[in-house]
Amino acid sequence: MTSASAPGKIILFGEHAVVYGRPALAVPVTQVGATVGVSAARSGVHIEAPDVSLTAELSTLAPDQPLAAAVRAVFAALNISSPPGCTVRVESTIPVASGLGSGAAVSVALMRALSAFLGRPLPDDAVNRLAYEIEKLHHGTPSGIDNTVVTYARPVCFVKGRPIETLRVKAPFWIVIGDTGIPAPTRESVGDVRRQWEADRPAWEARFDRAGEIARQARAAIEAGNVAALGPLMDANHALLQEMTVSCPELDRLVDAARLSGATGAKLSGGGRGGNMIALVPPEKAVAVAGALSQAGARRTIATEIR
Ligand code: PMV
Repeated sequence: MTSASAPGKIILFGEHAVVYGRPALAVPVTQVGATVGVSAARSGVHIEAPDVSLTAELSTLAPDQPLAAAVRAVFAALNISSPPGCTVRVESTIPVASGLGSGAAVSVALMRALSAFLGRPLPDDAVNRLAYEIEKLHHGTPSGIDNTVVTYARPVCFVKGRPIETLRVKAPFWIVIGDTGIPAPTRESVGDVRRQWEADRPAWEARFDRAGEIARQARAAIEAGNVAALGPLMDANHALLQEMTVSCPELDRLVDAARLSGATGAKLSGGGRGGNMIALVPPEKAVAVAGALSQAGARRTIATEIR
């Protein structure tokens, strides 16, 4: 059996505006991840993904089924027209549609494992490019930030269409991630923002500019080791995301609970309207903030050090 893994991810600053060319910051989250194993089978290409209750032969799956599309993308990239019999088994601890990059992590792990099984491991840039195509099936008009941070598994400052820039974290800091437990397909919030942007471009471009400026300031603070500056920037980014109509009462409740229990800043993370939020915490407050988030309704919390 040949296997490969990929981590989850979280967006620190700049979601939604990143779809419109502004910078955003994202980091891998190694406490969760996807693992894909590929083993030889007598004939056919079988896909098993117990987490989404899928067991199927590749030829029976629609072209836009993301797992099938990822398998076919690897065969196409390697010019393989009659693949050897194999079973592709997908396992993931990343909750689906929660802003933790589940779709991207599954695609990346699958492409690595399958290409290695075929004896021709794809390099990172090819994996990233192919995973972006699969992100389009999940998201509609993705910026590419998810596949990029998951492929390279390091903190990034991402601008759509530009080469990846690594974010140099001068002083490590802690965040606590709180999951509302509400599945929130990014495709819907991204589509909704697009409709509102089309109806009033000047107002939305101004919001995206402000989000981009916050991400730029956050990058400078992270690279200077100025962790104290990050809390207020998170709060300002959350206020802007509320203005963009992508927060919801459950996210706002978790953000408030985090601030009241010792976080120095908090915001929703990812597509919004459910999914996850993040809180910046002094290390000694991580346990208290995680407890307060659970009390305020979080289904699960993850404390992670960004370095
Ligand atoms: O996959 P999510 O929910 O973390 O969302 C990605 C961030 C967005 O900016 C909302 C969309 C995108 O493609 O960048």
